[in-house]
Amino acid sequence: MSQTIFETSQTTDIKFVEHICWQMLSDAAKDRKHPMHTVVIGTAAGALAHMRTVVLRRVDIETRKLYFHTDIRSAKIDQIRATGQLSWLAYDPSRRSQLRLSGPTILHHGNELARLHWEKTQHYSRRCYLLPDGPSQPLMHDVSEVDERLSSFSYSKEESEAGFDHFVVVETQVDSMEWYYTYSRGNRRALFSYHAGALVSQAWLTP
Ligand SMILES: Cc1cc2nc3c(=O)[nH]c(=O)nc-3n(C[C@H](O)[C@H](O)[C@H](O)COP(=O)(O)O)c2cc1C
Repeated sequence: MSQTIFETSQTTDIKFVEHICWQMLSDAAKDRKHPMHTVVIGTAAGALAHMRTVVLRRVDIETRKLYFHTDIRSAKIDQIRATGQLSWLAYDPSRRSQLRLSGPTILHHGNELARLHWEKTQHYSRRCYLLPDGPSQPLMHDVSEVDERLSSFSYSKEESEAGFDHFVVVETQVDSMEWYYTYSRGNRRALFSYHAGALVSQAWLTP
């Protein structure tokens, strides 16, 4: 595998590692082809961790915040509300880096920030928010029923505005980030803690 950015002499510099981790996330949010553009988010409910893939929509390096979009009617909403917390997992094989992040999480629904994100959504990506039923509902007939509804782009820009009622921007204020790096000469691991967007501690961990 090709040399990664972490295989330079700077890899022993924990500040450099932290900087690159946030840069990777920020790049991933802007680049559809980036391996971290899709991430896994985990919620806790009862005895199980519930995990699912979502698109990383925005990363604010300054404030250490991560964002994704979802439907207010989806099951994850109640799970996020119950704990106020969310876990995130990102992996980039080309940089042999896994990131585990977590922190307090809020929902933006019908507010200014939700509006800002909604205005930037593509016409085609609004269709899910326009369906009369939310996600995870059993279909009455067969699967082609949903194909028809999802492949119909006949709605106008004005009609698509109704989807805003179901649109949510989920925001995590990261308070913990752990980097795990696999390397032939020795795996590396580092843990970073934040408070209100400010780095409060950093430490190398045994891998
Ligand atoms: C590649 C990929 C990207 C996805 N992106 C999103 C997303 O950005 N937001 C979202 O709510 N669901 C997304 N999903 C669907 C979720 O993985 C999940 O199935 C859905 O949100 C229902 O989850 P829930 O029942 O736990 O709420 C995506 C699925 C895949 C395979």
